[in-house]
Amino acid sequence: MSNAKSFLDRGLADTTPYPLNIEVDSACGVWINTTNNGKLFDAISGIGVSNWGHQNSVITNLLHHQIDSSLHTMVYGEMLNRNTVKAAALLSDLLPKNLNTTYFTNSGAEAIEGALKLAKRATGRSKLIACSGGYHGNTAGALAVSSNNERKAPFEPLLPGVKFIDFNCSNSLNSIDAETACVLVETVQGDAGVRIPNPYWIQELRAKCNQEGALLILDEVQCGMGRTGKPFAFEHFNVVPDILCLGKALGGGMPIGAFVSSRDLMSQLSHSPKLGHITTFGGHPVATAGALGALELLKETNWSEVEAQGEYWESQLNAHPKVKSVRRIGLFMCVKMDGADQVSKAVENGLKEGVLLFWFLSVPNAFRLSPPLNMTDAESKLGIELILKSLSF
Ligand SMILES: Cc1ncc(COP(=O)(O)O)c(C=O)c1O
Repeated sequence: MSNAKSFLDRGLADTTPYPLNIEVDSACGVWINTTNNGKLFDAISGIGVSNWGHQNSVITNLLHHQIDSSLHTMVYGEMLNRNTVKAAALLSDLLPKNLNTTYFTNSGAEAIEGALKLAKRATGRSKLIACSGGYHGNTAGALAVSSNNERKAPFEPLLPGVKFIDFNCSNSLNSIDAETACVLVETVQGDAGVRIPNPYWIQELRAKCNQEGALLILDEVQCGMGRTGKPFAFEHFNVVPDILCLGKALGGGMPIGAFVSSRDLMSQLSHSPKLGHITTFGGHPVATAGALGALELLKETNWSEVEAQGEYWESQLNAHPKVKSVRRIGLFMCVKMDGADQVSKAVENGLKEGVLLFWFLSVPNAFRLSPPLNMTDAESKLGIELILKSLSF
């Protein structure tokens, strides 16, 4: 926001003409400390990454230990690392029985790419179905199955054979047929503004996939790992996917993603063709040490406290005259205001008041909130006070 060219001036690629341009000195718990001696309450957890706060010692202890033992030794799929094996085992313990085999990637988008390839390989079909409002990342394949046309158009052609259906619309399920390899849906749509599925619709979707032999891929890169007030968002809706995609908070601050499926499906990636899906850094021992820590924290999270904090923030926000509506599940919130200008003003004021708020890519009149899940009551109270102050202009 302050200096439009500072990234390029420092030899770094820009992603936006209006970067926040905040120089970070350190971060701890709910706080990000800046080099000008300022501090910001992190009300978005680095966009759904630091779900148990910054520098959580459960995570950093595992990281220190791994860094002192080994970094990269060999490409994924050849050598075994303790943390990688332990993280996969813990993830499988936390998930339903059919989700017992994990492929660790380096990002959320790569998890999506791997899941799409697995669906094609396992079904022998090529038709991919995705949902209106969905966001799945910025690699070519993940972009192809994301729905924001303005963001895709300059990069076309992307993947062929992608069809979009409407989120929460029963009629559109008729597009799923015997040629469909998979249907990819964010269990709770993040970038579309925390859009929550109708349980009946997502159950119908599951049934239709079963009927047609198509695989259901749930993208929980953003809404998984406790963000919605349960360990995984699909647990709210009584459905289980064939493939689950994770990322962001999975690494506890380290870069990682994963697609998780059954042993039977996943075993197909090793043959016909051999080495059909490979990556140098997938399953990196330090990144999976972060994942192990994050999964241990996920297991110990107090869900009734997460819900209580969510209810408290929602009620405080709803009482503010500048807030038009709040959509919330757990500690994942979309706060609507009266237009994009008001949202930008709130974000700018937030930086002055000492709280980090942020936009959605596709909902101009709303801002997102996804604070750490383990805030103390005092932190939660202070956080929402700072947010309300930022809205008072
Ligand atoms: C739902 C969802 N899927 C996939 C991705 C892509 O993840 P990454 O940015 O790690 O590639 C994101 C990122 O915001 C996301 O929100």
